[in-house]
Amino acid sequence: MISDHKKEEIRDSADIVEVVSDYVKLKRSGSGFTGLCPFHNEKTPSFHVTPNLGIYKCFGCGAGGDVFNFVMEMEGVGFTEALRTLAERFNVDLPQEQPTEPDETYQIKEGIYHALKSAGMFFYKSLVETDEGQKALNYLKNRGFTSETIKKYGLGYAPGSGQSFLNWALKQGLDEAYLHEAGLVKMSQDGQRTYDTYRERVMFPIFNPSGKVIAFGGRILKKSDKAPKYINSPQTKVYNKSESLYGIQVAKNEIRKEKEAILVEGYTDVLALHQAGLRNAIATSGTALTAEQMRVLHRYGDTLLFIYDSDNAGQAAMLRGINIALEEGLGVRVLKLPEGDDPDSFVKQFGKEGFLSFKKEHAKDFVSHMVDAAILSGEWDDPVTQKRAISRILTSISSIPDAVSRDTYVQMLSRLSKVGDRALYEELGIISGQKNRQEKRREMRQKNQEQAQSQRQSPPQQEEAPPYWENEPVHNPPQIQKKPTIIACEKEAIRLMLQHGRPMVEYIAGDVGAINEQFYESEEMRMMHLNIIERYEKKEPISIKAYMDRGHPFPQIVGDVIMERYSVSEHGNKKRITPILKDSEPYKVARGNLKALKLLFLDRKRSEFQNMYRNADDSQKKEISEKLKEIILWYNKLQHQSADELFELSEKEKQALLEKEQNNNDRF
Ligand code: GTP
Ligand code: MN
Repeated sequence: MISDHKKEEIRDSADIVEVVSDYVKLKRSGSGFTGLCPFHNEKTPSFHVTPNLGIYKCFGCGAGGDVFNFVMEMEGVGFTEALRTLAERFNVDLPQEQPTEPDETYQIKEGIYHALKSAGMFFYKSLVETDEGQKALNYLKNRGFTSETIKKYGLGYAPGSGQSFLNWALKQGLDEAYLHEAGLVKMSQDGQRTYDTYRERVMFPIFNPSGKVIAFGGRILKKSDKAPKYINSPQTKVYNKSESLYGIQVAKNEIRKEKEAILVEGYTDVLALHQAGLRNAIATSGTALTAEQMRVLHRYGDTLLFIYDSDNAGQAAMLRGINIALEEGLGVRVLKLPEGDDPDSFVKQFGKEGFLSFKKEHAKDFVSHMVDAAILSGEWDDPVTQKRAISRILTSISSIPDAVSRDTYVQMLSRLSKVGDRALYEELGIISGQKNRQEKRREMRQKNQEQAQSQRQSPPQQEEAPPYWENEPVHNPPQIQKKPTIIACEKEAIRLMLQHGRPMVEYIAGDVGAINEQFYESEEMRMMHLNIIERYEKKEPISIKAYMDRGHPFPQIVGDVIMERYSVSEHGNKKRITPILKDSEPYKVARGNLKALKLLFLDRKRSEFQNMYRNADDSQKKEISEKLKEIILWYNKLQHQSADELFELSEKEKQALLEKEQNNNDRF
């Protein structure tokens, strides 16, 4: 572990302006700097760096944080790696011992990485430098891949002899154990002989986001009924199939700019699109899409475009993929290619511009896509099957974490289906209720299984995501944390407490405001609230500085919370950011905020109970409706009074009033 003390030392030494300047052309503006945001595409700068606070913030896309966050986001690395990079750059000595992982695992991983990288080089050389590789090179050239692409993506050739790689690797002094660990070689059935996993195949290295080789896909050169078309690396200590994405090492930057990732099916589709200049394309390794992959994508962008060819069999798989993407909070669009084309062939015929204009015309949001699919299949013609299709679409809509988007799609579905939105909402409520119950049952089952398993003392079985062409049911996506946008008044409550310290904490969380963590919807803000209260009770200082000086993730959160307070104002054509770091009447602001927090809280409670009511037994209905009535009364009372009527003045304000009266009296 790197000590907090070291982290602070690195933070203090690292010049955020210098670090950001590697990627962004910054111009001085007031006490800070501005430039074009590296996280999204823009023409006028809304990206700000404030060196004295050590933070950056984009007012266009909301990205923000401290120097560690910047490196993490930009390089797609974890916290520790960002720390190490910065320590090295700004000459902070770090203890040599390796962080977070036990030495042994770390060493094994390094060994595997080294083996994979060496293998990548061997395959590349075999492709471009050997006679045997010539046929593979011709094959790639014939498919239209340039030497540049071949080099950049490290394509290669695995010779046919069955031991060429093994022999070469041993001669290089590579440890055979690591070749096994990396899945590059295998033991023969009788256990007598080790041989190469990949023989006579075109090799596609798979990289992690920071550009390390973590696996390979090998495509057969000669058509064969016996051998599979592709062989992929097994799951290893460095290769987790369910979170890796082919092409991500290049695509991540483009996805950040375009905000959108293009999901295709094959390695060759990714390469063809990238080569044509559409570098936001990625693919799975032929496996079903997983929640972890979606979470990785969400680090870089917020929408996902599914591309599929018309002769594709995997419609059901795509629907599951769409739901998984929606659950992660990604926007989902779908593009169907013309009959007979896949992304590879399409982009080779029509080029980047052709692709983009086709996309512009034909890409649909997922609701329109699903409606059109139902119309095409004839489902829409008959009320019974139409109802089924609508339920399916509502099931997808119910996966969306964000209430506003759900609403938008329900309205859209209502327009497209001519079914009134009230009926749709009712059905949506029923579907959500069913889903919740299913989820509960699933959790119970899982718990029971785990218990049974631990009793049997057998290790849990590693399950691989099944390939899509083997029509198997998709494994249940693991539960993931969603990250909805944080409601402004929740941030504002936290900001007020951070900026005005203990008296404000007393006002907001004490008798007057009576806010506790349950009033926040955002996990992050809940955590902050609890943390502030804890510090309050321990009599530790509560201030922006105190939090900025703490480790990850506080600076990022605090940056987010306080920078919102900077207002963007139009000056001629130029946008200017003016910090309003002082509230003239903080407690008045707080009162408005308390009211908003409570109204939103009650609103959520209301829909919660309404849902409960819909799914309740008759015996429970009475109790629930009592509760509902209480909530609605409370809501109306809040709504009809001004914030100043609702909340008593703070001690400070009372004091000031008293003093003012005193002064007035003194004058007479
Ligand atoms: P080309 O046929 O060369 O155009 O390659 P492709 O990448 O377009 O292949 P295809 O469309 O047939 O399959 C899409 C993806 O599914 C591939 O990139 C692989 O990741 C995966 N895949 C296809 N066939 C197999 C197979 O037999 N075994 C495994 N493990 N994966 C496969
Ligand atoms: Mn193909």
